[in-house]
Amino acid sequence: MKRFLIIGYPLGHTFSPKMHNLALEHYNISGRYEAMAIDPGEFDQAMETLKKENISGFNITVPYKQSILNHLDKVNPAAAAIGAVNTVVCDREGKWTGYNTDIHGFLHPLKSNIPELKSCLILGAGGAARAVAFALADQPAIKKMAILNRTLSRAKELKADLEIQMPSLQIRCLSGGIHTGEPYDLIVNTSSVGMGSLSGKTPLTDLPSLIHGGTVVYDLIYNPAETLLLREARRLGLQTLNGLPMLIEQGSQAFYLWTGHYFPQKVYDIFSSA
Ligand SMILES: NC(=O)c1ccc[n+]([C@@H]2O[C@H](COP(=O)([O-])OP(=O)(O)OC[C@H]3O[C@@H](n4cnc5c(N)ncnc54)[C@H](OP(=O)(O)O)[C@@H]3O)[C@@H](O)[C@H]2O)c1
Repeated sequence: MKRFLIIGYPLGHTFSPKMHNLALEHYNISGRYEAMAIDPGEFDQAMETLKKENISGFNITVPYKQSILNHLDKVNPAAAAIGAVNTVVCDREGKWTGYNTDIHGFLHPLKSNIPELKSCLILGAGGAARAVAFALADQPAIKKMAILNRTLSRAKELKADLEIQMPSLQIRCLSGGIHTGEPYDLIVNTSSVGMGSLSGKTPLTDLPSLIHGGTVVYDLIYNPAETLLLREARRLGLQTLNGLPMLIEQGSQAFYLWTGHYFPQKVYDIFSSA
């Protein structure tokens, strides 16, 4: 019997167990995918304990996508460059290898828009922001990028890591605003503002000053399906995307790394409208 986990804190918002258990059942794989909430402060000890258990693989979410790097035996080169891991494959010898399937998941629903996007504003500088910033910096069309984060030092670290791909990257404190007089083609919320205890809040108070008619507003949050940021964007007539397609796609890639199968169509059918 295989055992898979999602590890994070808090985990009340997660759809991952339902998606992965449906896929395990579909392929007749004897196994279970469970949520494991670990309190901040207990993470390192919990990882040492988990290393001694028989785990096939796990996902890592808020706030541990960077801290998990200290507990891995190997890191896939793309995940190492980004500095964030969301999927761990555990082999029979108990060795852990980290991957980042958020990059693929994030780009998937944007594919048709990508050639038109020349400038982007990223809100947040955590683990998900790293995948988003590296994925966008890799797009030849993107010429301008800015990052706003509550903790400026974290945005500075991300800027330093992106120096080669995006030397002109601007960073600012989230509370300071970034009105430059120039609107962005894409605004991505990778911060947790809008989810859980921050549900009903928006990370941007000056959205109208940062947009034009063709701006796409993408919130990685999927629960609630429409955050305040997306609601404001929709009312301004903008194209909006929530985090659900990304969630399904990053999950499908993780499932493939563990089992050699992508999610069956029924996972897409059920969860695309969740
Ligand atoms: N749809 C998907 O598949 C998918 C995949 C990955 C992530 N996500 C979502 O993306 C979000 C971030 O995930 P993550 O893994 O990057 O988490 P993380 O590494 O813990 O980063 C959290 C980010 O949110 C910011 N933040 C937290 N509380 C804040 C507050 N009260 N005010 C302003 N900023 C705040 C943090 O700023 P500081 O640096 O100042 O703490 C940081 O930038 C979560 O909502 C998660 O559900 C969705």
